[in-house]
Amino acid sequence: MGEKVEELEYQSGFGNHFSSEAIAGALPHGQNSPLVCPYGLYAEQISGTSFTSPRKLNQRSWLYRIKPSVTHEPFKPRVPAHEKLVSEFDGSNSRTNPTQLRWRPVDIPDSPTDFVDGLFTICGAGSSFLRHGFAIHMYAANKGMEDCALCNADGDFLLVPQSGRLWIETECGRLLVSPGEIAVIPQGFRFSIGLPDGKSRGYVAEVFGTHFQLPDLGPIGANGLAAARDFLAPTAWFEDGLRPSYTIIQKFGGELFTAKQDFSPFNVVAWHGNYVPYKYGLQKFCPYNTVLIDHGDPSINTVLTAPTDKPGVALLDFVIFPPRWLVAEHTFRPPYYHRNCMSEFMGLIYGSYEAKVGGFVPGGASLHNCMTPHGPDTTTYEATIARANEMVPSKITDTMAFMFESSLIPRVCNWALESPVLDHDYYQCWIGLKSHFSRLGIDDEVTDDGVHKQGKAL
Ligand code: FE2
Repeated sequence: MGEKVEELEYQSGFGNHFSSEAIAGALPHGQNSPLVCPYGLYAEQISGTSFTSPRKLNQRSWLYRIKPSVTHEPFKPRVPAHEKLVSEFDGSNSRTNPTQLRWRPVDIPDSPTDFVDGLFTICGAGSSFLRHGFAIHMYAANKGMEDCALCNADGDFLLVPQSGRLWIETECGRLLVSPGEIAVIPQGFRFSIGLPDGKSRGYVAEVFGTHFQLPDLGPIGANGLAAARDFLAPTAWFEDGLRPSYTIIQKFGGELFTAKQDFSPFNVVAWHGNYVPYKYGLQKFCPYNTVLIDHGDPSINTVLTAPTDKPGVALLDFVIFPPRWLVAEHTFRPPYYHRNCMSEFMGLIYGSYEAKVGGFVPGGASLHNCMTPHGPDTTTYEATIARANEMVPSKITDTMAFMFESSLIPRVCNWALESPVLDHDYYQCWIGLKSHFSRLGIDDEVTDDGVHKQGKAL
């Protein structure tokens, strides 16, 4: 508790070629790395895509820093090892499971636990080594990272705080991220997370081998959903001087390695480029929806997508279910019953979710794996049907649910399947769905003696 929070400045935009300098004149002009940079700074590039990626996809930034990041002792396996981080999903750490799964929120520990130690993998697919796959983690922590920074060599982190703000120091500057906001820390950036509110909990999506981008808008047009200008990148900020026992924690192949150095990695005085951490406030999302009939697919609420090479097939979509008006006529308004070739992991940041009356609470999670049926619980269905003739516009308020949706089939980590917060009764929420079927169709007729004669349509 009581960690310092300052007013921060941000740069607005998505995919921009940003530039920022903490000291006037620190940013070289005319070329990326002159022989001697202003103020004697070292020039260092961080590449988020291959050198030869097409220009429209190429991501890199130039960091002008007091000492280069190479200045550290050799990496050694961290002691103790982290037992619950996975980036290579196989039978040794995870299992397949087609059952609908739901977890209650995990307790935030009382013993000192920072973001790194409080992070644990729920499920995922693929491999960070092969640069194709994803992992879904959650975290529960109560103290900031001290004299250490994490560098995720495996992939991009998309952080979704559910309880407690995150004060994130990065090599490009600092981000203050509150529940209701998200942050993306691209692969390879060093960052350290402070917890100004103490106890904190949230969700993390990690993607291997690609980066998040804004979805195309197609016929929606040039505006709507998440606007580029609402994404905020940090401004340059740096620390100077000795930090005698600073530790770099490298997440590499799901394992943690540590290396000592005697200075802060946040020593970048100026930088420019389009490879950068950023944050986004979900309240700024501009939802679109049906305005007459039929329920739209949830993809209409995609905030960010991490694409595969197949057009329209995501490695991981980040989709939200924000407050919005429901106005559809003659239409079942909650989400439809569904089986999906994609796999759907859901979380709830605050409020309640429109398709579940109870059991899915803020900080909890659910996983409906590939072709596993799911949909509104019995109570939601019956309540909706009962109001079918009195449907007027209604507004969903005070809620923010989200989904990580992937074309890959996640395996679930052993500890998540054995967790005491796994809700073994989840299936019960649908068991009460009763048959409303009647053969009394419009072409049927009932004779005077009550005999039901099957109509031509049947
Ligand atoms: Fe679904």
